[in-house]
Amino acid sequence: MKLTIGCDHGGRRLKDAVVAHLKARDIQVTDIGTYSDESVDFPFYAEEVANQVISGESSLGILCCGTGIGMSIAANKIVGIRAAVVSDCFSAKATREHNDSNILCHGERVVGEGLALKIVDTWLDAIFSGERHAKRLQMIAEMELKNES
Ligand code: RB5
Repeated sequence: MKLTIGCDHGGRRLKDAVVAHLKARDIQVTDIGTYSDESVDFPFYAEEVANQVISGESSLGILCCGTGIGMSIAANKIVGIRAAVVSDCFSAKATREHNDSNILCHGERVVGEGLALKIVDTWLDAIFSGERHAKRLQMIAEMELKNES
């Protein structure tokens, strides 16, 4: 599996920890930055990761900022993206099984590193359940189409 990860200055330390964790799991990861504590604008990174997921360059994405919220708002503007901010393992599993989320958003100022890495593992290891949930994703896709014009 190939995964793209990005962050702003508020999520940079957590992003680095997640990258190391993914590499230890032998997951191919593209790290698009940021790479320092200098203040940057999170929508740029959200759009870049989202585009790599939509183009198929990566099958999944992870975004880290201070809360995970700004990243999720921005990433969800890209058609086809289902980005979820997750701060617990129950939601991490549910958002793959029910929502087929394709981007996980983390808040470095919200979750500690240990929990964040458990959330990543739970999210990656869960599988979309399909069935009634597929119909609901189709309804979301239709909403996107209606709002395109
Ligand atoms: C940056 O200070 C902070 O606003 C950002 O990382 C994020 O939390 C936005 O939602």
